[in-house]
Amino acid sequence: MVDDAVAGYAVLEYTFFSQGFISMLIVAETSRRKGVGTALVSHLEAIYKTGKLFTSTNESNEPMKALMQRMSYEPSGVVHNLDDGDPELFFFKKLEANR
Ligand SMILES: CC(C)(COP(=O)(O)OP(=O)(O)OC[C@H]1O[C@@H](n2cnc3c(N)ncnc32)[C@H](O)[C@@H]1OP(=O)(O)O)[C@@H](O)C(=O)NCCC(=O)NCCS
Repeated sequence: MVDDAVAGYAVLEYTFFSQGFISMLIVAETSRRKGVGTALVSHLEAIYKTGKLFTSTNESNEPMKALMQRMSYEPSGVVHNLDDGDPELFFFKKLEANR
């Protein structure tokens, strides 16, 4: 929350090949580039604790790709034919048990 407004939210689920998967991450336009996205992903990493954490975004999504690089996520494959002409890029991070 920022000034009583929701600044962003994220969803972590376990339906992706039994792995952790961030299926939703969105920050309000007025709250972007203030560390909210980083804080949300860091929180999910903290509650996920251990194992492989995945997420995905369109190839055209430069902000999300930059966030992934900044947070040390590694490329983990591409799925074509979801959005026409804009492949879905997958990322993952291996989280250690004793972080
Ligand atoms: C992608 C998104 C979640 C990033 O949230 P955010 O709160 O703005 O991200 P942060 O402020 O934590 O940014 C952390 C770093 O990511 C990178 N980054 C984030 N947005 C960027 C942008 N528009 N351009 C370039 N780099 C960007 C930068 O390295 C940034 O660090 P810096 O601000 O010190 O340079 C946000 O832009 C968003 O909600 N987009 C629409 C929904 C979306 O695309 N969700 C992604 C899943 S599909």
